Amino acid sequence: MQRILIDADTGIDDSIAILYALKSKKILVEGITTCFGNSGAAQSADNCLRLIQLSGLSREVPVVIGAECSLDGEYASAPAHIHGENGIGNVILSESSQTPLKEDAADFIIRKANELEGDLVIVTTGRLTNLARALEKDPKLPRKVKKLVTMGGCLQVPGNVSPFAEANIAGDARAANQVFCAGFHMVLVGLDVTMKTFITSHDLENLERYCSAESRPCVEYIRKALNFYFEFHRQSEGMMGRCVVHDPLAMLIAEDGTLGEYAMIRACVEYEALAYKGMIVTDHRFNSEMEQDEIAACIRVDSDKAVRRLFSVFQ
Ligand code: BDR
Ligand code: CA
Repeated sequence: MQRILIDADTGIDDSIAILYALKSKKILVEGITTCFGNSGAAQSADNCLRLIQLSGLSREVPVVIGAECSLDGEYASAPAHIHGENGIGNVILSESSQTPLKEDAADFIIRKANELEGDLVIVTTGRLTNLARALEKDPKLPRKVKKLVTMGGCLQVPGNVSPFAEANIAGDARAANQVFCAGFHMVLVGLDVTMKTFITSHDLENLERYCSAESRPCVEYIRKALNFYFEFHRQSEGMMGRCVVHDPLAMLIAEDGTLGEYAMIRACVEYEALAYKGMIVTDHRFNSEMEQDEIAACIRVDSDKAVRRLFSVFQ
């Protein structure tokens, strides 16, 4: 059982990752902190609360509103053409009776790490701002958590917001750099693998056909939200009836690392030079004196197995 704290900018793919985590028997969601990105942090938290209710979970999962802008005070407007006006493809889910916890997101992350005594896995599917703020407050945080799995970055493939950078890393490159250098047991799930993993309309048809009665509301939501996401992929990438799989892949790998193959890298993130902002810079030199911890960058993934497993929790 993986005890997971999710940090998300709850857009369409984040929402599917969250539903997976809530439904999986191998994951216990300890809480969700939110960040600006696909929508504002407050809107993301509202989305999370509605998703928790939709999942039918009988217990409350704490949701905490986090950073509304980067460490440098920047926030480009939400990409409504990708994730809709509300972040979840303009699908209107029922309002939740639960409200966000009134705790600072960085404090919540630190508290959970302390409470779980080395057992906490953090999965980030948005900017790394909350985590960087937590690190500022508690530099020992990396040694207190079991693992950090981050959806973000690109190594051997082009970026999606610039030739060199991916959205989650570029969205707060300073924060990303702090997290990359902090010494977490970090697994990076970037565009190198997420852009090669697809959900197709055929997968959706099968999901609708074979889902359990209990999961039908979730599947209905997934169908509507993914149809919005498919349309973005058609317009931007020429993909018809399919989309790539970013955030759910990070969640699947957090649950079961054997889905991927990894290269160990020593890396930092460029945050000053504007043209290269968010670019991951790797150091391949052999240097026995070097103190920086290595990061496991996912370079290959069993995509078929990942997508089958993703939807298996709704059967
Ligand atoms: C990442 O950016 C966001 O739009 C997605 O939710 C994902 O986390 C992909 O670059
Ligand atoms: Ca995301």
